[in-house]
Amino acid sequence: MIRTARTLVLIIAAAAAPARAQHPGGDSVRAPLVPASTTMVTAWDFPLNPLTDSSLAASPRASQVRRGFRLFTRTAEEAPALTGNGLACGNCHLNAGQRERALPLTGVAGVFPEYNKREGRIFSLEDRIVGCFMRSQNATAIRADTPSGDRIRTYPDTSAAEVADIAAYIRWISEGTGAPPPWRGHNTIAADSLIPVDRLDPARGKSLFQEHCSSCHGNDGQGVAIGDKKAGPLWGPRSWNDGAGAARVYTLAGFIRYAMPYLNPGCLTAEEAQQIAGYITSLPRPAYPLKRYDYLRTRIPPDAVYYQRGAPERPPLNEH
Ligand code: HEC
Ligand code: HEC
Repeated sequence: MIRTARTLVLIIAAAAAPARAQHPGGDSVRAPLVPASTTMVTAWDFPLNPLTDSSLAASPRASQVRRGFRLFTRTAEEAPALTGNGLACGNCHLNAGQRERALPLTGVAGVFPEYNKREGRIFSLEDRIVGCFMRSQNATAIRADTPSGDRIRTYPDTSAAEVADIAAYIRWISEGTGAPPPWRGHNTIAADSLIPVDRLDPARGKSLFQEHCSSCHGNDGQGVAIGDKKAGPLWGPRSWNDGAGAARVYTLAGFIRYAMPYLNPGCLTAEEAQQIAGYITSLPRPAYPLKRYDYLRTRIPPDAVYYQRGAPERPPLNEH
């Protein structure tokens, strides 16, 4: 009994300990990310939270970083002009991009500028964020009224204030971390476990989905509320579009393998994660209207299934 109580005190003390002694700079100890094996209790943990971090107050960028954090965690509500679906950045980058094996963004600012294979050009952090709005947040679905009364598509670009704010937040959580950070790229399925896409069985994926995912995502994939969390739409008009990274089978499987199911991440095998991803990507989602401009300098990856299906004739490859 006493032992249990003491253990509990230790756990609470550990949980309450500041993630990083000082931030930014100084001899601070780098904040650990929220561990990958986690529960709903840690769903709202942020090792670095700009809304409460007193060291940020002195920074001229404080209000921008805070806006960036709010945009990141409540994107559909805070950036409606740039979000054509029901998702937040934090739906996929769990714990506001500060969780291990859930596509963490801590430290990622330092890897940019970086060559982007899909678009065949060098990307700044801001370019990457615009890409996320265009694809994961389906901004290309948004129409704006013109003075002449027409409704036209509007695409975000790097001059948008929302993009600058989110970049400020990602730079802030990246301060003091070497690039690339050691936790980057840990949402991938090992090469020797990859199953050729045409050998995946959507029927098996569907039954695995119903067994492991439906309780929170619904049989219709549209998400049910659990406490103050709501899983986002996995397919259909309110989901990410078919030009997003998460619309690729192996990319999605890498997220599912290590970050889902939410209360027991890591319990699925690589095979099961790929079957489920195969099922999810067999279903309709919004079309990214600029797909023909992607992968012009490299081959279309085999798991980019929405590019393979009914793809228009492409010009010969111009590989450099
Ligand atoms: C549907 C899930 C999803 C949503 C929503 C999403 N992302 Fe991502 N993001 C990913 C995936 C998957 C990757 C990595 C793989 C890829 O895209 O090729 C990624 C990569 C990134 C990267 C590059 C990380 C690196 O290590 O290079 C940044 C930065 C990023 N996202 C920011 C954002 C921001 C900002 C938003 C919101 C505006 C957002 N993401 C919304 C899934 C998502
Ligand atoms: C216990 C509830 C729960 C279960 C079970 C669960 N998820 Fe989730 N999932 C969530 C929540 C909640 C989020 C949003 C996380 C956030 O906003 O912090 C989420 C997010 C996701 C996302 C990111 C995009 C989105 O739509 O929000 C994907 C993809 C995903 N889950 C796939 C799966 C798959 C596949 C399974 C089954 C293997 C699964 N999940 C099981 C609760 C769950």
